[in-house]
Amino acid sequence: MSGFDPEWLSLREPVDHRSRARGPRDACARYSGGFERITVLDLGSGTGSNLRASWFHLPAWQDWCLVDHDPALLEAARRMLPTWACASRTDGERLALERSGKTLTVSFERADLMTDIEGPIARRPDLVTAAAFFDLVSCAWIDRFADALADSRLPLYAVLTYDGNARWEPGHPIDAKVNAAFNEHQTRNKGLGPAAGPHATRHLVAALRARSYAVEIGDSPWLLTRDDNRLIQSLANGIEQAVGETGLVPGETLAAWREAHSHPERCEIGHVDLFASPM
Ligand SMILES: C[S@@+](CC[C@H](N)C(=O)[O-])C[C@H]1O[C@@H](n2cnc3c(N)ncnc32)[C@H](O)[C@@H]1O
Repeated sequence: MSGFDPEWLSLREPVDHRSRARGPRDACARYSGGFERITVLDLGSGTGSNLRASWFHLPAWQDWCLVDHDPALLEAARRMLPTWACASRTDGERLALERSGKTLTVSFERADLMTDIEGPIARRPDLVTAAAFFDLVSCAWIDRFADALADSRLPLYAVLTYDGNARWEPGHPIDAKVNAAFNEHQTRNKGLGPAAGPHATRHLVAALRARSYAVEIGDSPWLLTRDDNRLIQSLANGIEQAVGETGLVPGETLAAWREAHSHPERCEIGHVDLFASPM
């Protein structure tokens, strides 16, 4: 199991969608515009949020394969997508969906991408995508992934990779200390080797450029206000728990930090999107 709660994924989904950077998204749309029908492989799909954000920018016919190692999340995706679509039917193991003049088929694959990334890539989809995934993997895994991607000369649209930055308003004297401890926690093993965490995008961009890819990058920060209170509370709880596990901030100090950020005016969490295509 991944430990990613479907409720947490639902809470972040609207914010993830509105935060996406335009540059990489438009570059992906231009590239995909060359296809009448496109096959898309979504890595670490969770409940299908990336499909629900990206479909609009892709051609009228789309064949998605959602890959995750968590069967509960794939099952949730299978349940959620028909309610998101205007029309849906099952086609064997796949879903066939219609929405706003576009036709999508969706298949679901349970796979541990730690042990097998080469297999899904070797099926040569037209586009590989991932959302909120690359900060979980290790630098060694990124190199391995980049080799597989480049061997098949496939493009990558990867969004919402955490970049290590957090800003709270009003601020608190130990924000920087808490953030440093949180970033340390983000580099712990999440099942795909010691996580690249905040360094993921830098490593991924370098790995792709070294394999002759053109890479377009754009910031996609969460800009949270009081309207996003539920997500903020959940986020602050998650940070408190992670930082507590590091032991780098004394418990009482951390509790005071959490209390001070119980109703912030604004909170910004940095992410980066990229679109990479072989030159
Ligand atoms: C932060 S969630 C993002 C989910 C989804 N992409 C989204 O944007 O809502 C990370 C996802 O990666 C999946 N994941 C983590 N490790 C994995 C592995 N070794 N193999 C396949 N999927 C994995 C988790 O199950 C989870 O669904």
